[in-house]
Amino acid sequence: MPETTPPRLIGMSGSLRAGSYSNAVLATLREMFAGTADLVIWDLAPIPLYNQDFEGEKRPAPVKAMLAAIAEADGLVLCAPEFNHSIPGVLKNALDWASRPAFTSVMAYKPVAIMATSPGAQSGARCLEHIKVAIDSMMARVVLARECIITSVATKIREGRLVDETSLGFACGVVEELLREIRLREMAKSIVD
Ligand SMILES: Cc1cc2nc3c(=O)[nH]c(=O)nc-3n(C[C@H](O)[C@H](O)[C@H](O)COP(=O)(O)O)c2cc1C
Repeated sequence: MPETTPPRLIGMSGSLRAGSYSNAVLATLREMFAGTADLVIWDLAPIPLYNQDFEGEKRPAPVKAMLAAIAEADGLVLCAPEFNHSIPGVLKNALDWASRPAFTSVMAYKPVAIMATSPGAQSGARCLEHIKVAIDSMMARVVLARECIITSVATKIREGRLVDETSLGFACGVVEELLREIRLREMAKSIVD
């Protein structure tokens, strides 16, 4: 049997905070799927604010590196806290860079798993919906079969890891669905090829 390389996933968090709950969720998923998928959590701190004067070859080096990683990746895993009932600027900014050139960017047709977190008991859904709208607009493909909103997240993180079994089950379910989508694409490609 030929060796198969695990799917490459890029994780992006909507928070730069050292103790970020969203970062903790991604770090937990990276560990849970180790051996099955290579989840690289991309640091968005070096990504400058989007400026249309610096597209194409003029893109800043950290943006070029991020775009190359997305192009190479089989899928993305986004996890963001809800900020003012929407997407945190850090993540939106990275997605804005990644979405260019419109319709033919590295995001076009890329499968994307999305999750939202909130310390609140009922929040997160608005952030998730806004991520979906943004992802749709760049012609990427949100994995819709499973959704994950981790509410009361502060009570579910211990030592930088998601420890709540129910939430972990939902979060893993979203990644499993993403991996299924990636496998289906590989099968379709092998038929076409
Ligand atoms: C600017 C700002 C806006 C926020 N807006 C919301 C919100 O709309 N809904 C919500 O549930 N939490 C909101 N929060 C609380 C964040 O979800 C909370 O600080 C969270 O822990 C930040 O994510 P992190 O732990 O990944 O850094 C907001 C926090 C900030 C700083």
